[in-house]
Amino acid sequence: MRKSTLLFFMAFGLTSTLFAQFTLPQLPYAYNALESAIDAQTMEIHHSKHHAAYINNLNNAVKGTPTAEMAIEDIVKNISKHSMAIRNNGGGHFNHSLFWSILTSEKNTMPNAGLQKAIEKQFTSVDSLKKLMNVAAATRFGSGWAWLIVTPDNKLAVCSTPNQDNPLMDIAEVKGTPILGIDVWEHAYYLKYQNKRPDYLAAIWSVINWTEVSKRYDAAMPPKKSIWEQWPSLNTFHGVMASTFHPSEEGNLKPIKARSAEMVAKAEALNAQAYPDEYATPAIKDAVARLISGSKELDALVKKKSKDAVLTQKLKSLHDVFHEIVGLCKDSH
Ligand SMILES: [Fe+2]
Repeated sequence: MRKSTLLFFMAFGLTSTLFAQFTLPQLPYAYNALESAIDAQTMEIHHSKHHAAYINNLNNAVKGTPTAEMAIEDIVKNISKHSMAIRNNGGGHFNHSLFWSILTSEKNTMPNAGLQKAIEKQFTSVDSLKKLMNVAAATRFGSGWAWLIVTPDNKLAVCSTPNQDNPLMDIAEVKGTPILGIDVWEHAYYLKYQNKRPDYLAAIWSVINWTEVSKRYDAAMPPKKSIWEQWPSLNTFHGVMASTFHPSEEGNLKPIKARSAEMVAKAEALNAQAYPDEYATPAIKDAVARLISGSKELDALVKKKSKDAVLTQKLKSLHDVFHEIVGLCKDSH
């Protein structure tokens, strides 16, 4: 490569670094889409002026530094290493980007099953959660945010932060991954609600996008373990069932005749240890009891040298019970 060409590419690379910029995300709805809770003028000023200003100030604060190349999440997570200008404006950019995404004009969105279950476990009901969020938001002195977060131990919690801080920041008093945030700066509600912050908080729940909050919840939680990882003894039983039932479908009863006692032992093992938390339901325990008694009956039939047709029928019914358990486990996920 010629020296001048090399210099050109080096200069181009440097230029592109210097010009890396954070940009204002487009709203996924019109400014007037949330009128029932937030008026169009507030939305327009909030997005095109306030959020745009945070981005402009952030770009000025990071210009020409390695921070300009970083993802906003990574900046926010290590905010103690950055200047106050980056903390305020980077926080402002992150928080508002999240805020726009968790609002919608779509009516009656709902938490998904996993989030609903976690809300009920932590707060009893969605209504109790709303009350807690509203208290956190109403009592946040001055400007700030109220948050629903996933804590480092994968539980839900409600908290609030001042200014443009958020719970993802390493300086936050309560840390976690925010999945729902309510902006309680006056610029978010003053035109329509003036000083009545509680009225704004009561109205905003009608435009919360629970589908998006659920997505954020799923992303913040560790991946679910499979049934087999959670319940190894069911996996072991599955091994015996698969290697006896499938041959029996083809008329080969040798495997079940050889392993009927083992099947009893493996079925009893399901009940011998504590059930994994999610699977400790009366329906699953009842099905396991039927699996054990059915396995014992099959073992007795084998020992009595019953006819192949009788053994096949009994094994088939046990196979059905086994799949009933697997289905119940999936439902409880
Ligand atoms: Fe705001």
